[in-house]
Amino acid sequence: MAKPREEKTLIIIKPDALNRSLVGEIISRFERKGLKLVAMKMIRLDDAILADHYGHLADKPFFPRIAKFMKGWPVIVLALEGLEAVASVRLITGETMGRRADAGTIRGDFSMSVQANIVHASDSVENAVKEINRFFKPEELHGWERLDLEVLYAEDERE
Ligand code: TYD
Repeated sequence: MAKPREEKTLIIIKPDALNRSLVGEIISRFERKGLKLVAMKMIRLDDAILADHYGHLADKPFFPRIAKFMKGWPVIVLALEGLEAVASVRLITGETMGRRADAGTIRGDFSMSVQANIVHASDSVENAVKEINRFFKPEELHGWERLDLEVLYAEDERE
């Protein structure tokens, strides 16, 4: 089996989560899973960054609606690190449509909507790299050694 890779992934905690006071709950779920928080800030998105971030949806009829929603309130952006972090976070996040997402996932537990679906999470390692560079300057990413690695991973996974 290929050795699991250490990856970083980008999360945006969306305006619906902020308005519903779910920010702490969402961060807590990622922390408790064992993902390492390496960057975090509260920002207001603008048209330029949204056009970049949602470039794959620019031609969709719902694009203006999500852009209005995402820039209407601040959001919290964070970068998380761990072995296979991109796929692991997508599993915790659940499918795009909240009311169909699996129970136990963030969207499954807190969302009834496709637009108001609580979080964005990078969908591939390649996109995660692009998204982290889009939202964070290199000096905003913190490399730190966690003290609980021995109880988070097996010896060979830590090497
Ligand atoms: P997408 O990248 O397809 O999903 P995901 O966030 O799960 O990676 O879509 C980006 C966001 O666009 C999605 O989180 C919510 C919004 N969206 C809509 O509002 N309506 C839609 O029909 C779709 C597909 C997405």
